[in-house]
Amino acid sequence: MHKLLDGKKGIIFGALDDKSIAWKIAEKAREAGATFTLSNAPVALRMGKINELAEQCNTKVIAADATKVDELEALVDQSVELLGGKLDFIVHSIGMSPNVRKKRHYTDLNYDYYLKTLDVSAASFHKVLQTAYKKEAMNDWGSILALSYIAAQKVFPDYGDMADAKAALESIARSFGYHFGVRNKVRVNTVSQSPTATTAGSGVTGFDRFFDYADKMSPLGNASAESCAEFCISLLADHSKMITMQNLFHDGGFSNMGMNPALLDG
Ligand code: NAI
Repeated sequence: MHKLLDGKKGIIFGALDDKSIAWKIAEKAREAGATFTLSNAPVALRMGKINELAEQCNTKVIAADATKVDELEALVDQSVELLGGKLDFIVHSIGMSPNVRKKRHYTDLNYDYYLKTLDVSAASFHKVLQTAYKKEAMNDWGSILALSYIAAQKVFPDYGDMADAKAALESIARSFGYHFGVRNKVRVNTVSQSPTATTAGSGVTGFDRFFDYADKMSPLGNASAESCAEFCISLLADHSKMITMQNLFHDGGFSNMGMNPALLDG
């Protein structure tokens, strides 16, 4: 890969294991010449393999629960110090729904879990943005990304309350994109990715059938985590600096399909 991110500094949230989309983004960002810190929730670090990734990327892991503003503040401060300057990019690749995990149907949600879903999977993005904004931690013309899913626009019944979280996430990208754009020319976008076999993805009921359906429906097939990472690198690079407040589908064409004869043929 070209050194598209030469000299750029950032934070990448959400690498749990080598299947994680954030893991692939970190690998590609490193290849592209970026330096960055890695972050994940303390519980994920204990379970984790993320230290292996940190070693591979010659960097450090800084624990932060993305729902806790004080932890995010410490993370941003430490990252700026460690990297030797303000940030050029942030990747938010975080999602979790206790309702989905515990197979609570959308018509039978536990509302404590629901608030947790919205906090972890959507409000955390606002918290990350607001922390970076208030601390003036981003360089002008920086880029901030979060990962989304098409259940924000269309109904995928098994996606449960994560659909509501993704709709909020995409709205936050637009709303904060305005403010960050006006002040710092920083762009804020979401990437709406195909179903991908990761810990979060596979937790959705019927994931395999879901995955196969999307794969057959999409003229290019499902996008892999690796190709998603490549796309994300292009959105962090200067080549995409006028793209902001967008939800960009990285889904092999799925989002614009109505019917694919391949599915009728079985
Ligand atoms: P993953 O399970 O590897 O990553 C999810 C990450 O969120 C984990 O690293 C987890 O530790 C982290 N996380 C959970 N709670 C947290 C908290 N309180 N603070 C900080 N981090 C926390 O799964 P994947 O698939 O790589 O997920 C990354 C993003 O991609 C998520 O936003 C997910 O919704 C999105 N996405 C995934 C798709 C899929 O089919 N796998 C499809 C479209 C979007």
